[in-house]
Amino acid sequence: MSLRISNIRKQFGDYVALQNIDLTINPGEFVCLLGPSGCGKTTLLRIIAGLLSADEGTLELDGKDLAGIPARDRGFGIVFQSYSLFPYMTVAENVGYGLRIRGHSKGQITERVNQLLELVKLSHLSDRMPGQLSGGQQQRVALARALAVDPALILLDEPLSALDAQVRIELRKELRDLQKRLGIPTLMVTHDQEEAMALADKIVCMNVGEIEQVGTSQELYLHPATRFVAEFMGHSNMLSAGWLKQVSPQALNGAQITSDQEACVRPESIRLIADPKGPGTVADISFLGNVQRLSVSCHDLDVMVETTPDASKFSVGDRVLINIEPQHCSWVS
Ligand SMILES: Nc1ncnc2c1ncn2[C@@H]1O[C@H](COP(=O)(O)OP(=O)(O)O)[C@@H](O)[C@H]1O
Ligand SMILES: [Mg+2]
Repeated sequence: MSLRISNIRKQFGDYVALQNIDLTINPGEFVCLLGPSGCGKTTLLRIIAGLLSADEGTLELDGKDLAGIPARDRGFGIVFQSYSLFPYMTVAENVGYGLRIRGHSKGQITERVNQLLELVKLSHLSDRMPGQLSGGQQQRVALARALAVDPALILLDEPLSALDAQVRIELRKELRDLQKRLGIPTLMVTHDQEEAMALADKIVCMNVGEIEQVGTSQELYLHPATRFVAEFMGHSNMLSAGWLKQVSPQALNGAQITSDQEACVRPESIRLIADPKGPGTVADISFLGNVQRLSVSCHDLDVMVETTPDASKFSVGDRVLINIEPQHCSWVS
């Protein structure tokens, strides 16, 4: 199954919540919609689910137009951020709900529910009520419920964001394994770039109602197309061509640019060389366990540099040369 989203636009009154949204979710693909709160992620997910209609644009599932097809007939599995389980049904009844309303037999339902509970490792809790489960367990039930109807597509709206850090990371891995095993195309909304990078085959980075860039984690991190993507995907230094020309001119080798253009340079790709005549001064050093982060002042700019802790031989006040290679510069718009 593949879903093709073309030219979606949505306005709430005068406010343009989405525009120019073009995106394809390919068979078996795990796609993350990533962007800050309010950028339109949930709105797009609701349009795909059929819970909200777009003002313009089309949705096609394997070439078939979804216009006019109501949410429950689209055959998509949906999981929301807040645990949206039915509070007066047991775990097993929650998971079997979709099958029951579609008129499956009792025997079929029991067999499928058992299979799904095994899949999400909750067989031992099938008779519990949702209120007796942890947040992580509730989201596993919600996932099993979404999978029960053999969905053509899974839609997840920040399913992990209400959980504490450790559970979130555990469940993230389970979700990834399960999705790969079942091969169901999946669209997950998140505002957490680390989560998106860990899960997605393809990340769709959004900002104020529009897509900024689509690509793999590596593409977005190493080659951000816009300043927004550069700054949203981890730490970055935005360095102008004019500044680089003075500080590390080799960075400009081969680049066709004007002096006011800016490059995104990641903190870990900057090399420092101790030199009493260097233009930079180490202003701050913080030890973060796996890395050491240095702040280097140079020509009116503070540059963030990361090194492995044992490789760092610098102290605050040291003068340094700053070395940036052209392949580590992403010239953004
Ligand atoms: N039903 C609605 N009526 C008016 N404005 C809305 C409605 N739903 C969402 N919005 C607005 O659209 C924007 C995008 O919202 P949303 O899609 O929920 O963002 P996200 O999920 O990325 O945080 C926000 O500014 C929000 O206030
Ligand atoms: Mg949202």
